[in-house]
Amino acid sequence: MASPLAEPATRSTDRLPGSLPMGVLGLGHYLPDEVVTNDDLSEVLDTSDEWIRTRTGIQQRHRLAPEDATSDLATRAARRALDDAGLEAGDIGQILVATTTPDYPISAVAPIVADNLGVLVPALDVNAACSGFLYGLRTAAGLLATGTGPVLLIGAEALTRVVDPGDRNVAVLFGDGAGAVVLGMDDDGSLGPFDLGADGSDPSSLYTPVGGTREPTTDDNVGERRHFLTMRGREIYRFAVANMTASSQTVLRDAGLTPDDIDLFVGHQANLRILDAVAAKVGIPAERCHTTVHLHGNTSAASIPLALAHARDAGRLHAGDRVLLTAFGAGLTWGSCLLTWSGA
Ligand code: ACO
Repeated sequence: MASPLAEPATRSTDRLPGSLPMGVLGLGHYLPDEVVTNDDLSEVLDTSDEWIRTRTGIQQRHRLAPEDATSDLATRAARRALDDAGLEAGDIGQILVATTTPDYPISAVAPIVADNLGVLVPALDVNAACSGFLYGLRTAAGLLATGTGPVLLIGAEALTRVVDPGDRNVAVLFGDGAGAVVLGMDDDGSLGPFDLGADGSDPSSLYTPVGGTREPTTDDNVGERRHFLTMRGREIYRFAVANMTASSQTVLRDAGLTPDDIDLFVGHQANLRILDAVAAKVGIPAERCHTTVHLHGNTSAASIPLALAHARDAGRLHAGDRVLLTAFGAGLTWGSCLLTWSGA
């Protein structure tokens, strides 16, 4: 709930500084049927439910079916978001897919989704890893502001396809899924202000070393299993807490809000300890944080729209709510924004 001391200008449909009259017209998600528990992983890896739960908060994750790729997850979430908005695919002006696990190294996911939906519209991928959904929201806001719309933004990932199933350092962390929103001009909603950032000085803290143009795959480097995602976990942990905290505080300051004005805090669902640390530093109590990492694991760019869908299903999103979103990811990238929920 908002602080009783909050000025009227920070509530209802009054525009926040740095925001635009845009909102979520429809929301949908898709999670693969297969659920992999920590105990399942303990049967094939030198790990345990206790280690995974205490270090990350993760209890289970979903894994995509063998015949599926990222575009299949994205398309299913997109169809549900369109239904939720009461729109046809033909009403959409642009499709954006936030993903770091495309179907193919070259050729984006978004045009495949457009084709699956039966439309020919501009379609492109946004790759900012786990910050991708927030970068996608910022891109969508720009498109809407310049007359394109509505925009279908999907966060979709198949991380289990790019991690070494034999590497316990990363295999336990990730899951697959997709969440989608239809964004449009909406006087009852608001989007912004935003704070986005990137620091590419050392991508090696969280990257896939082999398979790009820096070092194409060879029999040798594939044999060394260097075509899988690798990371320096502790470094990323510190980076995540520092940057999500500072970015959230920047957005609050730019909006003229305090933590008391935030109805729901939805951070990138990578690790419960990271989320708890950021919320505590920003000053948002646990009861106003929505977490799904225990159910989904880290689904990268899909994690925030999946968490929003879960929050709405749980009755935790109401018209007029101020929602603070924040994320970090490979690149390294980070970002935050404010969303006023308009009741979709
Ligand atoms: N099961 C059991 N033991 C394990 C496992 C596992 N799954 N994984 C690592 N260990 C061991 C390590 O080998 C190490 O053993 P050692 O001390 O004998 O060397 C020990 O556990 C401690 O390892 P740490 O890495 O120090 O453990 P830490 O408490 O830092 O937790 C973790 C590791 C969970 C990865 C944490 O650092 C973290 O969450 N970091 C952030 C990672 C993250 O969020 N990445 C997001 C990627 S997003 C994207 O853009 C793709």
